[in-house]
Amino acid sequence: MLTRRLVRVVSGLVLVASLAVAARKPKNEDGPVAQLSKAPRSAQSLENPYAGQAEAVAAGRKLFEQHCAQCHGQDARGLERAADLHSPAIRNAPPGSLFWALRNGRVRKGMPSWSQLPDQRLWQIVTYLKTLK
Ligand code: HEC
Repeated sequence: MLTRRLVRVVSGLVLVASLAVAARKPKNEDGPVAQLSKAPRSAQSLENPYAGQAEAVAAGRKLFEQHCAQCHGQDARGLERAADLHSPAIRNAPPGSLFWALRNGRVRKGMPSWSQLPDQRLWQIVTYLKTLK
C-alpha cells in the first residue's frame, strides 16, 4: 500500500533528522562546565579590566586558595565533582562568561554563587583562571 510505504519513509526521515539534531548538541550541555555556555550575551561581552596584569593574577591566586581550592584542588585540577579548571572549556570561555558563572554559581550541582565577592575580586579570580594551561 502506498500510504503505508509513505508513512514508513516519513518516519524514517524523522528519525534521521532527530539523530542529526542530537549529534549536534554540544557535549558539555550538562557537564561540570555547562554553566559557561549559558552566560547571556551581555555578560559574555564584558571586558576584564585586569586582563593579563601580574598583580591581579597574584591576588586571584590567593583568592582561589581561600575560596575555591577546597573543592577544585590547590592546583585547580578538580576534585570529585568540581570541574578541572585547566580544561579547554575554561581556556576558551570569554572572560565575561567566567565572571558570570562565578557570580551565579550552579548551586544545584554544588558550585556556590560568589556574588558576595566584590566585582574587582571576581575579575582577579578570572584573571588567575586565564593563566591556567
Ligand atoms: C563547595 C565546592 C565548590 C567551591 C568552594 C567552588 N566550586 Fe566551582 N564548582 C564546583 C562544582 C561541583 C562544579 C561543577 C558544577 C556542575 O556540575 O555544573 C563547579 C564548577 C565550576 C566552574 C565551571 C562553570 C560552571 O559552573 O559550570 C568554574 C569556572 C568554577 N567552578 C570556578 C570556581 C571558582 C573560581 C571558585 C572559587 C571562587 C569555586 N569554583 C569554588 C564546586 C565548587
